[in-house]
Amino acid sequence: MRDAWDAHAPEWIAWARTPAHDSYWQFHRDAFLPLVPAPGRLSLDLGCGEGRLSRDLAALGHRVVALDASPAMASAAAGHGATRNPVVVGDAAALPIRAEAVDLVVAFMCLQDVDALEDALLETSRVLGPGGRLVVAITHPASTTGAFEPGAVETERRFVVERSWFDRAPLATVVERDGLSMTFVSEHRPLQDYVEAIVRAGLLIEALREVGDPRPDDKWHRMPMFLHLVARRG
Ligand SMILES: C[S@@+](CC[C@H](N)C(=O)[O-])C[C@H]1O[C@@H](n2cnc3c(N)ncnc32)[C@H](O)[C@@H]1O
Repeated sequence: MRDAWDAHAPEWIAWARTPAHDSYWQFHRDAFLPLVPAPGRLSLDLGCGEGRLSRDLAALGHRVVALDASPAMASAAAGHGATRNPVVVGDAAALPIRAEAVDLVVAFMCLQDVDALEDALLETSRVLGPGGRLVVAITHPASTTGAFEPGAVETERRFVVERSWFDRAPLATVVERDGLSMTFVSEHRPLQDYVEAIVRAGLLIEALREVGDPRPDDKWHRMPMFLHLVARRG
């Protein structure tokens, strides 16, 4: 998945930077940021992509270091005119950061794309100081078990389960909208995979939220699209 994200970086940069184009701008950022603790010594934006969340965290007063495995993503993040934070090319499963150096790790929409989930959580725990927090947003595992059938009335479209909830499955979902195309390469994983990796890394889950589209006329109003978790290093 790591190489695929680097290959699709130009598509992602256009997708993520087009105003109001994706859920980040429409509602997802507003649902996520209230879970993020106040700025501490250092905040790590894991899987930063082209850097939009890093810039928003910096505007909220966080001292941010951003990291992405894709050189093309990291280069775009570093090259954005509003980016003031350092950007590092590195893998979530082998962080180039010393132990207990950060108080906050945000993993916004990247853990479903990370090949070595368990190692990424162990590394997250290693770099967090005691009491430090991990705030996660992932695609909700329910949303990746299938797809909505076509239908004229958005809110009446049936969601069809196409694969096992319990088995991991590679996904390459092509989404075309408003003249932009994006290939999302990820892995369907059952919820227990994430919870077990977090718990095994010595992190205590403090909050879990399920996020749908707040607009009543959207098909994702009655199904969770995203899952948010907050965990604390004990
Ligand atoms: C859906 S994008 C999200 C980007 C950003 N967080 C945002 O929401 O704008 C997922 C990102 O995770 C990165 N990624 C995938 N595997 C990774 C890994 N093993 N270590 C670090 N980053 C990784 C990808 O390169 C990509 O930039």
